[in-house]
Order: sequence, then structure tokens, then C-alpha cells
Amino acid sequence: MTSSNAPDKMPNAYAVHIEMWGKGDLPLLQQLNAPEMTAHLGGPESAAKIADRQTRYEQLANSTTDKMFKIVLDATGESVGSVGYWERTWHGEQVLEMGWGVIPAFQGRGIASAATSQAIAMARSEGAHRFLHAFPSVENQPSNALCQRLGFTCLGEVEFEYPAGHFMQCNDW
Ligand SMILES: CC(C)(COP(=O)(O)OP(=O)(O)OC[C@H]1O[C@@H](n2cnc3c(N)ncnc32)[C@H](O)[C@@H]1OP(=O)(O)O)[C@@H](O)C(=O)NCCC(=O)NCCS
Repeated sequence: MTSSNAPDKMPNAYAVHIEMWGKGDLPLLQQLNAPEMTAHLGGPESAAKIADRQTRYEQLANSTTDKMFKIVLDATGESVGSVGYWERTWHGEQVLEMGWGVIPAFQGRGIASAATSQAIAMARSEGAHRFLHAFPSVENQPSNALCQRLGFTCLGEVEFEYPAGHFMQCNDW
């Protein structure tokens, strides 16, 4: 027997979709630049660097390979994070690299998993490159869990300098 308020009929308040990054999205970028959001990325960037980043993200609307999306709650239209991919050379080969962030108030609800799945589906349908990598710090438990959950294969540890002068040990997924 079904009923209108059975659990499987309840709308998911944390269902999300992804939208191309746009001109009005600087406030989201500022939220994503908080100290707790950048702990594994060398810390917050300056206001000038964030403004440059906003310009770069807007311009990606014209890119055939690199994409940056905001993560939007279906229920309210609120922007709660970012996910994207871009080309890089890795071991002499062109691959896609992914990155993601969900603002703290919305973490732990499956939002990064859902949004990153959608971005992976987009990258796969575009078919620019065969392989897609992510390089979270070995200490970044949520990001490593996300890679595992989404079916990435861990290829081992690598050292990265990011940003300049800041060295970190990362997993190559
Ligand atoms: C990584 C991040 C995007 C995850 O977002 P989220 O919406 O909370 O992720 P989800 O709810 O989809 O959970 C994904 C996995 O992470 C795990 N996870 C979430 N928060 C966690 C935490 N604090 N500690 C350990 N694992 C955690 C979840 O349990 C899930 O794994 P599971 O499927 O094995 O249970 C978020 O923590 C974040 O924005 N971090 C700061 C930015 C960052 O470090 N970006 C990565 C750069 S490579």
C-alpha cells in the first residue's frame, strides 16, 4: 500500500543540480574561500585572487574542455558549492582533473556525491579525454571518501606544490 507521505515519496531537501558558473557567483566563491574550506588547499586566497578566479570561471563558459559549475539546491535555488574539471598534462598525457567544494552548512548530506556524479556524466558525454583524475591531500578524508564512493581508482601518493611554496602529499585517484 502506498501513501502520499511514505518515506520514498518525500522530496529530498538536499537534491541538487549543477549549473554553469555565472557572473553573479562571486559571493559563492567568497564563501568557498573560508579557512575551513581551504585547509587542504593552502588556505584562503586574497580578494584579488578570488576576483581573478571569478573572471576565469565566467570565461570557462566558452571553453570546450574546462568546465566550472555551481551546485544548486533543487528545492530553494540556493547555491551551496562548486564542482568542475579542467585539462592538465599528467605523465605526458592530456587528462581531466576534477575539484569540488560544498559550504560547511550543507556538508555530510550527499551533495558533493550527487553533484560530482553529474559533472562526471557531463565530462564523459563530452569525451574530451579518456582519463579523469583527482588529487586530494592524503589528509582530506571527505575528498578521499568521495573519490572512493564515486568509483575512482587510487593509483598512489604524489607530492604537489600548491600554491607556490606549499608542498602537500596527495593521492592520485
Ligand atoms: C569534500 C567535500 C566537497 C565533501 O562534500 P559533502 O557534500 O560533505 O560530501 P558527501 O556528503 O557527498 O560525502 C562524500 C563522502 O565523504 C564522507 N565525508 C563527508 N564528510 C566527512 C568528514 N567530515 N570526515 C570524513 N568523511 C566525510 C562521506 O561519508 C562520504 O563517504 P561515504 O560515501 O563513504 O559515506 C567537502 O568536505 C568540502 O567542501 N571540503 C572542503 C573543500 C575541499 O577540500 N575540496 C577538495 C579539493 S581536492
